[in-house]
Amino acid sequence: MKLYFAPLEGITDGTYIAAHMAQFLGVSKYFTPFISVSEGFNLSKKEDSLISFAAHDPDSCAVQLLGREPSALRQAIEKLARVGINDINLNLGCPSGTVTAKGKGSGLLRTPDALKSLFDGLFSSPLPVRLSVKTRIGYDSPDEWPRLAETLFSYPFSEIIIHARVRSQFYKGVCHREILSVLPHTSIPVIYNGDIFSPEDARALMAPGYPLEGIMLGRGIVAFPALAEEILGLGTPGKARLKRFFDALLYAFSESMPYNALHGRMCEILSYMGACLDGSKRYLKRLRKAKTLDEYRTLSENMFDELELSSCPYFDHLSLSDSGS
Ligand SMILES: Cc1cc2nc3c(=O)[nH]c(=O)nc-3n(C[C@H](O)[C@H](O)[C@H](O)COP(=O)(O)O)c2cc1C
Repeated sequence: MKLYFAPLEGITDGTYIAAHMAQFLGVSKYFTPFISVSEGFNLSKKEDSLISFAAHDPDSCAVQLLGREPSALRQAIEKLARVGINDINLNLGCPSGTVTAKGKGSGLLRTPDALKSLFDGLFSSPLPVRLSVKTRIGYDSPDEWPRLAETLFSYPFSEIIIHARVRSQFYKGVCHREILSVLPHTSIPVIYNGDIFSPEDARALMAPGYPLEGIMLGRGIVAFPALAEEILGLGTPGKARLKRFFDALLYAFSESMPYNALHGRMCEILSYMGACLDGSKRYLKRLRKAKTLDEYRTLSENMFDELELSSCPYFDHLSLSDSGS
């Protein structure tokens, strides 16, 4: 069973992925957050460094693209292939209103004909990379899935990653795992994504009957960075390793961004990872108010020194307001 690390815009940039790779085992592949593509595709400085990072280890990193024009996407794919990227993922899941209004991300699921002509264009001649897709199961209703699945599985995607919610759910409400029983007979590997927060959640999906090549972990592995190791039975991490990971992130971000940006990024990560430590809420509140890097560092040192690793360090989505793209 493959374990993938989901793309999470605002969290899993190259710095985060490098620190996670250095500290934890078990993830078969990391996915970058989406890079938006339109005609005349040019990379921003931030995207450029993300691509350089992924090109360094192209077998462990897939780059995600978001777009709707086949010619622009093909151009981007060819450009990325030239710098060594060999695994590209197409985003059909982003629920954000600004994205769907442009007919991108999950907005494409609303228009089956546009989706087909996008795929026809993309696969009109051989691609220089593996192209996978990450999709939701519909725009408004899971009833859209059988038709959508028929379309998706009729193209030569290298993998199909299914986030089992519809667009209107964003990241809330139940995942419709029942759709896994209506997959077409296919040789395309299927990866399941959605609400896998603990080893038990993962084991339930590994049961016979689910035709899965792997699962993709998102908020669950940000909250508990050793989740893939635990799922694979490689042991529990101990507080010291979690702190080493946290310190590595803090150091790497302090080298690459101003304090304001670092502060926002680390607070976002801790809003998930805080679940690892018993009673972290009061520290998270103080960390959100920290005015300098030194203050942030001292407070986080104290937090890791004083608090114990939680006996249930897994993400609890009820404790968070859902967000994201
Ligand atoms: C903050 C945030 C950012 C996200 N960014 C992306 C993204 O760039 N591309 C994408 O395909 N999905 C993105 N997602 C969706 C996740 O990859 C994943 O599908 C979702 O969190 C459900 O999986 P989970 O229940 O394991 O977290 C994002 C989700 C969140 C919460």
